[in-house]
Amino acid sequence: MEFGSSTSSQVRRNALVLTLFFENSTRTRTSFEIAARRLGMDTLNLEVNSSSLSKGESLGDTIRTISMMSPDFLVVRHQRAGTPELVAAHTDASVINAGDGAREHPTQALLDALTIRQHFGLNRLADMRGLRIAMVGDVAHSRVARSNLALWSMAGASVTLVGPKAFVPEGFSELGWTVCRDLKSGISGADVVYALRVQTERQSGVMYPSSGEYRQHFGLTLDRLDLHCPGAVVLHPGPVNRGVEMDSQVMADPRCLVERQVANGVWVRMAVLSVLDDARREMRRG
Ligand code: CP
Repeated sequence: MEFGSSTSSQVRRNALVLTLFFENSTRTRTSFEIAARRLGMDTLNLEVNSSSLSKGESLGDTIRTISMMSPDFLVVRHQRAGTPELVAAHTDASVINAGDGAREHPTQALLDALTIRQHFGLNRLADMRGLRIAMVGDVAHSRVARSNLALWSMAGASVTLVGPKAFVPEGFSELGWTVCRDLKSGISGADVVYALRVQTERQSGVMYPSSGEYRQHFGLTLDRLDLHCPGAVVLHPGPVNRGVEMDSQVMADPRCLVERQVANGVWVRMAVLSVLDDARREMRRG
């Protein structure tokens, strides 16, 4: 075979999924890699800390360089909001947002919706209409919150945001969301309690006096669940600060769906990659 002369009919190759994680991850990166492999795709992680970015290469130049190696998908996580769009401007690969700053984490919202629908036996997203969801905690700094709120409002769920002003600023009620400053009233009668991680890495300065104080006022305990919403299921995007957002007893309770969320992450990411792969093939044919 002559160098540079191969065509797609001569060299068949699997789709290549390249992961670029500028922020740490356990669930998202691993599940994208597992999803890709289960679909028969190849995966490669660009070790960003040991890449030429550390020598001063711009992100745009890095993306153009790796795009010359023909990846089909770039799965991008970055601490700055908007980075996936910046990446997409420098590549023909399909770019998937795996979390950008405090803005969006779309596949997390999809796997959360799947978990909720499975539990309640809801066939369609629209069947979540009227479901009472209490989201508790650090909404202000959470990309998971933003993606879920967009999806839940599309589905017509009845959402209450629960937390102190530092975590659920007044602006949310001005935007039309129901806000509750008291955990007991906020979760009372809920079908779903969605706890958010206290995101110290995105907070400037001390947002709440201490972890202990946060737990005292907003932590999920078995007693509080049993008293105020005994029929509710509990979700959390992970990683969980045990003893802060929720107690270990809640994590171990059958109402806690955190492990189901993780398992569903693989299915959802398989679906996302599969739909995009079909679209890419269609475009090539078209
Ligand atoms: N939920 C979530 O994004 O977890 P990771 O940071 O471990 O990927």
